[in-house]
Amino acid sequence: MKSSFPQDFAWGAATSAYQIEGAWNEDGKGPSVWDQMCHHRPERIWRRETGDVACDHYHRYREDVALMKEIGLKAYRLSLSWSRILPEGTGNPNPAGLDFYRRLMDELLGAGITPWVTLFHWDLPLALYHRGGWLNRDCVEWFGDYTEVVVKALGGQVKHWITMNEPSIFVNLGHFVGVNAPGDKLPLAPVLRIMHHVLMAHGRSVQAIRAITPQPARVGYAPTSGARIPATDSAADIEAARRCYFQVDTQSPTHLALWTDPVFLGKYPDEAQATLGDAMPKATDGEMKLIAQPLDFIGYNCYTGERVRAGEQGAPEIVPFEPGNAMATLSWLQLAPESLYWSARFLTERYGKLPYVVTENGFSGHDWVHLDGKVHDPARIDYTHRNLLGLRRAASEGIPVGGYFHWSVMDNFEWHEGYRERCGLIHVDYRTQTRTLKDSAYWYREVIRTNGANL
Ligand code: BGC
Repeated sequence: MKSSFPQDFAWGAATSAYQIEGAWNEDGKGPSVWDQMCHHRPERIWRRETGDVACDHYHRYREDVALMKEIGLKAYRLSLSWSRILPEGTGNPNPAGLDFYRRLMDELLGAGITPWVTLFHWDLPLALYHRGGWLNRDCVEWFGDYTEVVVKALGGQVKHWITMNEPSIFVNLGHFVGVNAPGDKLPLAPVLRIMHHVLMAHGRSVQAIRAITPQPARVGYAPTSGARIPATDSAADIEAARRCYFQVDTQSPTHLALWTDPVFLGKYPDEAQATLGDAMPKATDGEMKLIAQPLDFIGYNCYTGERVRAGEQGAPEIVPFEPGNAMATLSWLQLAPESLYWSARFLTERYGKLPYVVTENGFSGHDWVHLDGKVHDPARIDYTHRNLLGLRRAASEGIPVGGYFHWSVMDNFEWHEGYRERCGLIHVDYRTQTRTLKDSAYWYREVIRTNGANL
């Protein structure tokens, strides 16, 4: 069968620095809020596990890149540890930290794998948290300066940049709910102030990349939310799902449109003021302009979604999952494979026909190496297959799809869930650091080889 995916489609997989690197205090790295959380509030993490060693990728990156090559990845999305590069968050860079990333980029480029670099995936330097963290408006310049240091050092090797990973999640879980680092539970108004600063920091970072890159760069952002899937194909249900997807209807900082309307449309959704009232930051025109820097693609981390139908007068109603709906081991990760199609459609409708890139999509399990020495993970294969069919549908309808990054390349430290949850295409035995390609890695290799024609 002919593939609907464009020839230059970025078939990739993703990781993040804290979740795989280890070497938490080596070669001049400063601590991050995650080091702090794991060491000083260990009871908050499953079995008091830490990212101190994780997949030991800092020392084993060559082996890991060779495995990525074996899978045939065309692109690899990774994040940089800010406090490995700037131990104090600002000031003098740590040459050994930059050198590590230079060597890693060389290794990737040598293997024919395009690096997509995320500047921030949740591990804020602890020194900056002590200066007020994201609550301090100076964070906008801190993040801009950090971006400059990185692009100066790596801009010759890297053409694809993502400023931040899932800002709604680190702001919500780290500052409002408190289960992730830095573990704060602030009232809504300061949390929304953080949101505003984070969005400005994103904009400042985009400006810095564009100002400094020595080659044409593609810049994006990786927000997330649950998708909204119309319960039927009726126009009323489709409209209800669209409304529900972008609505701001509860006292929470997680609503997607809070994070995407400012970036792509230059304004907060009108509904935000009505729902969140005085807690909403008073933004100036200059601030909104800073946030709304033009981007080159719509990145989106998409794992799951909920079905929506039109109720009275078209009001969106969530249709609960049926008892026993298929799901992953992470309790929020329900099987809802139409999510990729509907999010691609709704996002490109609202924000314009920029390429849509799935910056994360994946499946958690409790995989292990079986007696035959292999890791059989049929559920991950089926989940991914179904999800990719949704993306293929989007492509076949003319939605410009630019890439797909499976989460994750390898099993890793799943934040407050520790090592309980495994999302990798590659199994990691944390006692020996042995890597084993799972069945899903071999399956994904065929998907990549055929450019999705085998789906
Ligand atoms: C995050 C990853 C995380 C994954 C699975 C995403 O929310 O970006 O860091 O490991 O989901 O939970």
